[in-house]
Amino acid sequence: MPRKRSSKRENDIPPKGAPGDDPLGEGELIETPLRARALVDELVEKTSPDDPRYPYLLLLRHQVEVDERQFNEARKVIGELEEAYHKLTSPANRIATFLGSPAPGIARIAVGESEYYANIDPRLDISELRVGCSVRINEAYAVVGNLGANPTGPIVKVRETLDDGRLRVGSEPGQITRIVLRGEALGEAPLKPGDEVRLDPTAHVALEHFQKAEVADYYFEKIPEIPWSKIGGQEEAIRLIRDTIEFPLLYPELYAKFKKKPLKGILLYGPPGCGKTLIGKATAYNVAREYSARVGRDVREYFMYISGPRILNMWLGESERMVREIFAAARERAKEGFLVFVFIDEAEAILRTRTSGRYLNISNTVVPQFSAEMDGLVDLDNVVVILTSNRPDYIDPAILRPERIDRKVKVGRPDRKAARDIFAIYLTEDTPLDPALLEEFGGDAAAAREALLDYAVDRLWRVEPETEFLEVHLVSGRVETLYWKDLVSGALIMSAVERAKDFAIRRCIEKGSEREGISREDLDEAIRLEYRENEIFPKSDTQEDWLKLLDYDPENVAAVRPIRPEKDYAAAHRSII
Ligand SMILES: Nc1ncnc2c1ncn2[C@@H]1O[C@H](COP(=O)(O)OP(=O)(O)OP(=O)(O)O)[C@@H](O)[C@H]1O
Ligand SMILES: [Mg+2]
Repeated sequence: MPRKRSSKRENDIPPKGAPGDDPLGEGELIETPLRARALVDELVEKTSPDDPRYPYLLLLRHQVEVDERQFNEARKVIGELEEAYHKLTSPANRIATFLGSPAPGIARIAVGESEYYANIDPRLDISELRVGCSVRINEAYAVVGNLGANPTGPIVKVRETLDDGRLRVGSEPGQITRIVLRGEALGEAPLKPGDEVRLDPTAHVALEHFQKAEVADYYFEKIPEIPWSKIGGQEEAIRLIRDTIEFPLLYPELYAKFKKKPLKGILLYGPPGCGKTLIGKATAYNVAREYSARVGRDVREYFMYISGPRILNMWLGESERMVREIFAAARERAKEGFLVFVFIDEAEAILRTRTSGRYLNISNTVVPQFSAEMDGLVDLDNVVVILTSNRPDYIDPAILRPERIDRKVKVGRPDRKAARDIFAIYLTEDTPLDPALLEEFGGDAAAAREALLDYAVDRLWRVEPETEFLEVHLVSGRVETLYWKDLVSGALIMSAVERAKDFAIRRCIEKGSEREGISREDLDEAIRLEYRENEIFPKSDTQEDWLKLLDYDPENVAAVRPIRPEKDYAAAHRSII
């Protein structure tokens, strides 16, 4: 919208005398250099106030003034509109990635997948253009602005570092890999295969090294204080572990005398929530303490917690690397004097037999790697490997061979006595109790608590329609009904006590009283809810999931049918297979 504009400014003083060349505006109307107001002023000046036209002239001057003001305002608005129009209609600049300057004044740039040999605006300071930085380019693809480092872009894994500094990267296994330049910001960073880097948005230059969490951060776990007394039941398992792990450490001379090699690893197996992980951590805590006392110096434990499924889901080939690194770190720590526990939770995920269940079609290269690493531990007496699994039958027999993981310890469901012990661990002596219950025992809190513990266990072990939980149809044709007591676990008991505490706390708040405490009814309701809502029990009807919870040989089970009283569980009543 070009417009001819007067070069005169508003307050220019018009020269006295003749107006422009064509003041009457014959033909095209030409703007005179004179202002109308100045002309009128002149007329006013030249006219006597007595002249009858004088008031008209004054009126005219006023009107001219008003018009002039309006004109100026309109011009300002048009100017603003023009500027906005200009902004909104000028094309956006593309953004390219600067790949280098092959000749003076020339840039190699990438726009998307394409590359260009482009001119650089001479006003730009070329020395500030870094390989990988973003640049603004105009319609001719000339570089006209430096936008500096681009903070975004895809993350990929380094597969190989080439001698000239370039990198071979690939984002997913099986995908094409590509060669990228090393951005200046990366400098000489020691990149390893498997490291992650961020590329520029056109994926030509690696810009940033994404430091992976150090392997140690990945698995090292600080264990809380878990004396053996914090574990209810499981005496047999604990005794076996102590014999297996502690004795060789505490009595090395005896082992030497009998030429007996210490065991390197144990497998804890059993249903979920019964204390496998807890026992693993307690082992690390307690053995380190007892060993310290024995050797007369402070021996610290180093507990490496490794989740099997997490390793399984790693990048192709990376699980093996991880296993290698785990054992390398374990050996290193052991040499530094730590008592090292390599704890692999849900081990069947990575150490499965090649033909087992749902993992049928994955060739397992972790098993040989793991076996070799176990064999390499022979000379180290302060590294212990503990595996846990809900499905030990899935674990490759090569792993469970003598001198590898050759002790299997069952961590089973608690019996009545163990269940009571576990209740006692969580319902501690200082837990506030219901005033009515206390009164029943004449204020004897200890007796009231004992009664509460008895009540809780009785409640769990009651055999009645309400506590029917699962029907197991055996291949032999027999049907067995399992009750609450058959599926009880430490995790469930702990969770029930926590729930009962919630009830009591809520009552305190509602009644504005601090005297409320846990009652039989709280425990009753909490236990009932546990069996209805606890995540331990599969929500799905997958037989595989249920079998993990049961002590049956999977081969003998034809079907598992949850017994759920509620109407909305009606669908679940159908047979699973
Ligand atoms: N025997 C027990 N004594 C005391 N607390 C227990 C016991 N068993 C389980 N618990 C409680 O339940 C929680 C869960 O148990 P844990 O993680 O050890 O189960 P798990 O056997 O490893 O189960 P999963 O197979 O699901 O890994 C523990 O942190 C602990 O609070
Ligand atoms: Mg566990």
